[in-house]
Amino acid sequence: MLGKRMEDALNGQVVAELYSAYLYLSMVAYFESANCPGAAGWMRAQVQEEFVHAMKLFDFVNEQGGRVILTVIDAPPSEWESPLAAFEAAYKHEQKVTGLIGELVEIAKQENDGVTVDFLQWFVNEQVEEEESTSEVVEKLKGGELSDVDKQLGQRALK
Ligand SMILES: [Fe+2]
Ligand SMILES: [Fe+2]
Repeated sequence: MLGKRMEDALNGQVVAELYSAYLYLSMVAYFESANCPGAAGWMRAQVQEEFVHAMKLFDFVNEQGGRVILTVIDAPPSEWESPLAAFEAAYKHEQKVTGLIGELVEIAKQENDGVTVDFLQWFVNEQVEEEESTSEVVEKLKGGELSDVDKQLGQRALK
């Protein structure tokens, strides 16, 4: 059973993950318009991942006897200066999300909610992967030809 404070915090994270999906969907639109089909495909996969993250939290709140309350999702930016700038923004965003997950873990510990601490461990690990994968693309874009990097990005498989 979730305490009220934990429930509210998890609900906030459901919306934060949906915002991530929304942000990356906006990047899909940007990459499509910037003639970067590979990057658009990469981000399309990321949108789906973020939706999965939101649903993991959604299902957990329900299973733990809580009630999901959805609130407004902020509008994401729609323009970036370059594909590199967009991926830099994605990396920065993932660092921010890592911080949010850390705060949730902190709350769960303060509330002596071991079940939620355990549950959140998946997200702690996932954030390591998310920061790695976005910063890897930033480095590729800094070091390589855009059209080559775009081709590589197009090969991302859903995982
Ligand atoms: Fe996420
Ligand atoms: Fe991921």
